[in-house]
Amino acid sequence: MKKLFIIATWKSHKTTPEAIVWLQEIANKKWQNIGNKELIVCPPFPLLSTVKAFMTEKKLPFKIGAQDISPFDEGPYTGAVNGKQIKEFADYVIIGHSERRTHFNEDEETLELKVQMALKAGLTPIYCVQGKNTPVPKGVTLVAYEPVSAIGNDHPDNPADAETVAAKIKEKHKIPFVLYGGSVAAENVTSFTHMADIDGVLVSTHSLDPKSFIKIVDNA
Ligand code: PGA
Repeated sequence: MKKLFIIATWKSHKTTPEAIVWLQEIANKKWQNIGNKELIVCPPFPLLSTVKAFMTEKKLPFKIGAQDISPFDEGPYTGAVNGKQIKEFADYVIIGHSERRTHFNEDEETLELKVQMALKAGLTPIYCVQGKNTPVPKGVTLVAYEPVSAIGNDHPDNPADAETVAAKIKEKHKIPFVLYGGSVAAENVTSFTHMADIDGVLVSTHSLDPKSFIKIVDNA
């Protein structure tokens, strides 16, 4: 049975009390049978510590990811959060998301530095690409294919098309794991996870409500 990554990313959503409501709902479920699933939640920076403490205390089988990383080491970089700081709480970090590329003007050079910083800190990058021709920096082992047209609108990509792109990314960049992201919901998750070359999903909108995220995990 292949390994399946099921990743929730909250983007710029949730305050601490809202995160606690989500966590309590998650803690109400029995999680013994997750089998081959690697469950990851990526909260905004200010919530990393709360989420980490909760998962540890309740012994929940969730890994934690950050949504960004500084392209620099520690030092005089106002507002930046570096790899060593993230590693205190997380094992993964999202890099290259289309929203970072568009709204924060992140270019390939910056993204490559971010990947280097993540690897140096012992974090696994969840590297987002928008198509089969998006460059992938050296050292990346986990890619999320996220067509921009499918993000946040309940119009997911056609699973067969996503499978074709995932297979091409694996072949071209020798990447072991390729996920799909874009309008994943409980009703459509298996149409992606049943594809031979899709190793999981990156979910935002439908991960914000813990009940709908639990359904996605159960169905995947
Ligand atoms: P969505 O976002 O689940 O809201 O479509 C996915 C993503 O941007 O990673």
